Amino acid sequence: VKKLLNGRSLVLVGMMGVGKSTVGRRLAKKLSLPFVDADEAIEEAAGMHISEIFENFGESYFREGETRVIQRLIAEGPAVIATGGGAFINDITRQSILDSSLSIWLNADINILVDRVSRRNHRPLLHGKDPETVLRDLAEKRDPFYAKADYMVMSNNAPHERTVSEIFATLL
Ligand code: S3P
Repeated sequence: VKKLLNGRSLVLVGMMGVGKSTVGRRLAKKLSLPFVDADEAIEEAAGMHISEIFENFGESYFREGETRVIQRLIAEGPAVIATGGGAFINDITRQSILDSSLSIWLNADINILVDRVSRRNHRPLLHGKDPETVLRDLAEKRDPFYAKADYMVMSNNAPHERTVSEIFATLL
């Protein structure tokens, strides 16, 4: 896998709740690469929680910052980078990732995502709304973009360790 990466970063994309951060952290450990969560890097750069950025400045401001932070993380690489669910939908962010890194769409059935985000919901896009309706709607719009990633791996109900093995099997 290291050979395939050839000094590039490995970037995980996909819907919120699919497990990009947990899987990414384990993947990084196995590859002896640093792990970076793009959402956390944005919060650090802004000195604010993501929900506060959305509230105070709106989504398009958030997306501009997201693009800049992801471009910086890629430049600082190589690393395993977990991106927020909307990052790969933005044309500039997606192109930066595709041009420089190996990307994996971590995918799962919608009912599994609904289950996962309903348990712990801190996401501004879901705030006060029915998670199932929002997630179905988002997935329908976003899946064609996620499909542009270099690889796709299903995570469904497998333990994260299995998903990591699945990723290795896909890349080998
Ligand atoms: C978003 C997903 C979140 C975060 C922000 C917007 C999205 O990241 O970036 O709330 O547009 O799907 P996660 O995918 O880590 O939840």
